[in-house]
Formats: sequence, structure tokens, C-alpha cells
Amino acid sequence: MRLMVTGGAGFIGSNFIRYMLSQCEEYTIINYDALTYAGNLENLRDLERNPAYTFVRGDITDAVLVDQIAGSGIDAIINFAAESHVDRSIDDPGIFVKTNVLGTQVLLNAARKNGVSKFIQVSTDEVYGSLGNEGLFTETNPLAPNSPYSASKSGADLLVRSYHETYGMDVNITRCSNNYGPYHFPEKLIPLVITNALENKEIPVYGDGLQVRDWLHVKDHCAAIALVLQSGRSGEMYNIGGNNERTNLQIVKTILHELGKPECLIRHVGDRLGHDRRYAIDAAKIRSELGWQPQYRFETGIRETVEWYLQNEPWWKRVKSGDYMRYYEKMYGSRLVKA
Ligand code: NAD
Ligand code: TYD
Repeated sequence: MRLMVTGGAGFIGSNFIRYMLSQCEEYTIINYDALTYAGNLENLRDLERNPAYTFVRGDITDAVLVDQIAGSGIDAIINFAAESHVDRSIDDPGIFVKTNVLGTQVLLNAARKNGVSKFIQVSTDEVYGSLGNEGLFTETNPLAPNSPYSASKSGADLLVRSYHETYGMDVNITRCSNNYGPYHFPEKLIPLVITNALENKEIPVYGDGLQVRDWLHVKDHCAAIALVLQSGRSGEMYNIGGNNERTNLQIVKTILHELGKPECLIRHVGDRLGHDRRYAIDAAKIRSELGWQPQYRFETGIRETVEWYLQNEPWWKRVKSGDYMRYYEKMYGSRLVKA
């Protein structure tokens, strides 16, 4: 089976490519990625010589190149490519609409034109908005996105749905909760906490730190997408999550404890605008229909992840240098003013 994986040089995409090539099934993979600030070919260095793997640098909004790749005998497109960071979407929403909405439509068009058999849109639980203290998101929840990021992902989901309804395309949408694991870009909470703590830098906690996220190991997410690729029913959405709700403060303290670092590194800073209070996923559908279940206990997964960052200091030191650091210092400075 020949796959076009978009955004494969990012966090989840690179883990997915490694996961798929480690399976017994015969997959060949084209990783199509624009290499934005979040894309990093170092994430896939071990696969560079694998004959089943090819990298093509390209933007998903580039209709000509996308058409050319989709027309090269691709059986399925799995779309991970996106602008993915909520804080950046608050700072500069335009690129989120371009990549996440327009880019998805360009991919759908190319898939349709070239008779690609399956299209999987890797979406997020954030499209459902925020929950109160009780309840879980199911696939029938209405879309109620609160950030420009989640609004752009919702727009993409609706386009994917429309290509199924209008053209009968075989599509699936997966909506996963927050991922953690190796190669996670250190602007997101867990890798930011680990790497800042290792450098004895302050850990910025937005607002009261009591917001809740439902954390899932990235390999469990990859396994779920693989199952959807193999057996997902045409036109269906699947929620993916591991029933691992934690407040942000719990996450930060767990990591500091793992690293033997003091809690005085925690610094409460100005809150994120429109900050979603709680996400929590009901994954009953993918569990019962496709037999998926997460393999990682959070305690084991987070320990392994901390260990990965300890073992891969050159990777994150390079990622945290240059442009990224300038951006981080700017954002951090503005949050201290608002604290
Ligand atoms: P990431 O930011 O680490 O990676 C995104 C990748 O997309 C990068 O390699 C980047 O270069 C590439 N990209 C960006 N714009 C592009 C464009 N215009 N054309 C081609 N490539 C482009 O993101 P991630 O955390 O790996 O997330 C991957 C997908 O999973 C996203 O669609 C995201 O919405 C979704 N998702 C993420 C999470 C999470 O916790 N990280 C949870 C649920 C869903
Ligand atoms: P993040 O990793 O950006 O994922 P998302 O916004 O998609 O859930 O943030 C996870 C949570 O951590 C979210 O509630 C915001 C919070 N957060 C902080 O408190 N401090 C930080 O420095 C970051 C990056 C996030």
C-alpha cells in the first residue's frame, strides 16, 4: 500500500511513519512536508536509507505539486500537515486558515481527481470546544471551537465531511486528545516543561494551571490511525483518547518530580486568551468498532518520555536555538506583563 503522509516531519507524523514502517504489512510512504519551523528531518534520520520511505518537500497549498504526488499511484492520504500551536494561532491566525483549511481542500481535490482510495484527516478534540467539570466529548458533540487553531481544524473537518457527502469519497476524521512522547516540539506543554526544567529555567503555567487535558502517548495515537486506515468505515469520525485527565499543574509537578527539580521553578503567568478549561474524550466507538485500546499507562509513558529527552539533548538543544528561542522569549515576556 502506497501512502502519502503529509506533515510527516512533525511530531506525530514522524512517529506515525516510523510506526507504519515497523508493521508487517507492506507500506511505502511518501512524506510530504513543507518543513516549517515545526518540521524537522532529524526526526526521521533513522529511516533515510529505508527504500520504503521517500521525502518530498512541498506545501499542501501547492495544488500542482500535491496533484503530481497524489497522482503517483497513492492509495491513501493521511493528513497530519497543519499549523498546530494554539498560542501561535492567537498571535497570527491567517496562516492557520491557509494551511489547515485551504491546504486540506487542496489535498481533498487531488485525492478525488486521482482516485485515491482513502483520505484520513488527523483532527483534534479541540474542535468540540471546552467541557465543564463533567462529561466527555463523543463524535456527536457539536463543533464549538474557541481558538483560531481549533476553528481552522473544524473548517477542515467540515470540508472532509462534505467531500464524502458530495462526491462519495472514502474519508475518515480522527479526533485525538493531547499527545505526548518523543520528538514533541518544545513549544508544547510537556516538552517545554521537561527541557526548561533541565535548563533550570522557569516553567510558565498559564493562569491558575487547573485546566484539564486528556493525555495520550503518541504511539497509541499512531496505532489508532493505522486501524482506521485498515478498517475505518467510510465517512466515519473516530474520537481517540486514553482517559488520562490531568490538570496542567499535575503534569508540571509530575515532570519536576521525575527530574528531581524543585517546584519553585513554576511561574504562574498571564492566561491564554479564550483558554479552553477542560478536554476529555469518549473513545468508546473506536474501541468497540475497531478494537483499539491504548497500550501505555501514563506513568510509564511520561517516564519514558522524560528519559527520551535526557538521551536526546542535542536534538532539543538544536530545536530550541535560533528563531524558536526569539519567539519564545517574546511570548514569555508578554505573558509576564499580563500575570
Ligand atoms: P507539528 O506542528 O509537530 O507538525 C506539523 C507538521 O506539518 C510539520 O512537519 C510542518 O512542517 C508540517 N506543515 C505545516 N504546514 C505545512 C504545509 N502548509 N504544507 C506541508 N506541511 C506543513 O504538529 P503535530 O503535533 O505533529 O500534529 C500533527 C497533526 O495532528 C495536526 O494536524 C494536529 O492538528 C493534529 N493533532 C495534534 C495533537 C497534539 O497533541 N499534538 C492532538 C490531536 C491532533
Ligand atoms: P499545549 O501543549 O499548547 O496544547 P493545547 O493547547 O493544544 O492543549 O498546552 C496544553 C495546556 O498547557 C494548555 O492548557 C495550555 C497550557 N500551557 C501552559 O500552562 N504553559 C505553557 O507554557 C504552555 C505551552 C501550555
